[in-house]
Amino acid sequence: MRELTRTRDVTTPGAERPRRLRARPALRALVRETRVDPAQLVAPLFVISGHNRRQEIGSLKGHARLSPDLALAEAARLARLGVGGVLLFGIPDEKDDLGHSAADAAGPVPHALRMMKAEQLPIVLAADVCLCEYTTHGHCGILDGERIDNDATLPLLAAAATAYAEAGADIVAPSAMMDGQVGALRPALDDAGFGGTSIMAYSSKHASAFYSPFREAAGSTPSFGDRKTYQMDPANGREAMRELELDAGEGADILMVKPAITSLDLLARARDRFDLPLGAYQVSGEAAMIEAAAERGWIDRRGAVLESLTAIVRAGADIVMTYFAADTAGWLRAAR
Ligand code: PBG
Repeated sequence: MRELTRTRDVTTPGAERPRRLRARPALRALVRETRVDPAQLVAPLFVISGHNRRQEIGSLKGHARLSPDLALAEAARLARLGVGGVLLFGIPDEKDDLGHSAADAAGPVPHALRMMKAEQLPIVLAADVCLCEYTTHGHCGILDGERIDNDATLPLLAAAATAYAEAGADIVAPSAMMDGQVGALRPALDDAGFGGTSIMAYSSKHASAFYSPFREAAGSTPSFGDRKTYQMDPANGREAMRELELDAGEGADILMVKPAITSLDLLARARDRFDLPLGAYQVSGEAAMIEAAAERGWIDRRGAVLESLTAIVRAGADIVMTYFAADTAGWLRAAR
């Protein structure tokens, strides 16, 4: 009688035993829902002019500004590790008010792209399209007084995107958060004969405190004000869906949200609503938090990196831009 009662107890709902499937590594691997693959990771690279030049970036451990030849070597290393792509950011020798050098065909990004393309590296070549690294004032668009002039910025972004496509970019990634930027890039690319170049849109990009290390790397801290009149309020999720919708309608091939860890809800919502590939950018401040805590011995670096990337993919990202792409690819390969 006693036996019978116990048997009934363990089979009633609420007395289930999820721990059965956690008993040993092979069982856990069998039922794992999310796997991170190096092929879905994209490594940001900062490119400067010259030859054999390398400038360490204090706030982004393990990352440096690289001249095109060294950027090529790094892209080749990433390709060997099985990393899916590189995302190039340029830091020009000279900045001006209009960010002219963003579209300079001889600038560091087109230069590096041409070298990477010539090597036929088995890795996707993506180029960020924005003016903030190229303007003296550090804003992502050009100025009309202290106002960021949206529509006057669009042709400059289109010219930069076209220069990168011409140099061999598979993907151009507009990140300026100007209204209509995807709609400006698509016909400009098509008209210039680059109908095959994809657009990965930074669609939902919050005005975030987590971009500071990047701005140190790119020298793109705004000289006055902030980016809140063009980047989104982190409080807004419905508006994020609207931004994604607009970019899809303007012809984006890939939609992206950033930062990643503060946007997991947006990734999950976007995954349900859009069938386009979805990207997430684990930004510089997210990486810096992990590095800083790991350096103090407060968290396990590898565990924190893999857990955060897994959560980003679980939430719905197909593609993750991450400063940990090379490390992660190495770890995943060794685990095989
Ligand atoms: C350019 C751009 C930024 C980032 C990606 N593209 C900086 C910014 O908006 O200030 C941030 C990336 C990072 O923090 O890793 N507009």
